[in-house]
Amino acid sequence: MTIVTKDNIILLNEKGRRSDGRKWNELRPISMVVGVLERADGSAIVETGGTKVLAAVYGPKEMYPKHLAMPDRAILRVAYRMTSFSVEERKKPHPSRREIELSKVIKEALEPAVILEEFPRTVIDVYILVLQADGGTRVASINAASLALADAGIPMKGLVTAIAVGRLGNQVIVDLNDVEDKYGNADMPIAYIPSTGEITLFQMDGTMSPDLFDKCLEVAIETLNKIHEMQKEALKRKYLKNKKD
Ligand code: CDP
Repeated sequence: MTIVTKDNIILLNEKGRRSDGRKWNELRPISMVVGVLERADGSAIVETGGTKVLAAVYGPKEMYPKHLAMPDRAILRVAYRMTSFSVEERKKPHPSRREIELSKVIKEALEPAVILEEFPRTVIDVYILVLQADGGTRVASINAASLALADAGIPMKGLVTAIAVGRLGNQVIVDLNDVEDKYGNADMPIAYIPSTGEITLFQMDGTMSPDLFDKCLEVAIETLNKIHEMQKEALKRKYLKNKKD
């Protein structure tokens, strides 16, 4: 079944190919590089097709003002920001409602993986900067931030891995791009800790039948396990390189 937007973008053609030529379960090319900044404690750049995200971790460090510190654990502070040039229509530089909301959502997706009790009275800052947006910036941010936390040596139960799945008509799709996010029938970002099986973020925009929902979840978990392997490889590349240097 061919699905076309009102601006004549072919979301799904008669051969089942998507707007960028992908099959329903095909990921865009993913690149992950760990340790890209000299003065952050941990950092990573994740690119998923046209989406490019930088994450940097600074801490644990003493919390100021002190009354905000927790006596029994560290505070994870997450700031998700988009550069003005990251989207088609220039983004005003002040933090938008969406950026404030995504900072909260990403913090909540990462927090269950981090062993915060190891560092009482401190703060761990996670800075996320979207350099270019083409759909799925929150999931790319979670993938990058969890690599940056690991690179900073923060103890974790496991890496957090994220992907967006969704649907075009009755067709489940994996890794939505910008037009699929905007014009598709549903978008379901999911974050998951593969080593514990915990789902730490689950959102849905749009509608989904129970059958398609089950199919989406199944294909999401399969894809998340693949992305988790890529994250581990990216960490290995950094540490094997350091060993050689
Ligand atoms: O990026 P993500 O899918 O996690 O979040 P969203 O709020 O569903 O945004 C979907 C896409 O809309 C983004 O990835 C951008 O490509 C685009 N967007 C935009 O063009 N202008 C904005 N101010 C915000 C998002």
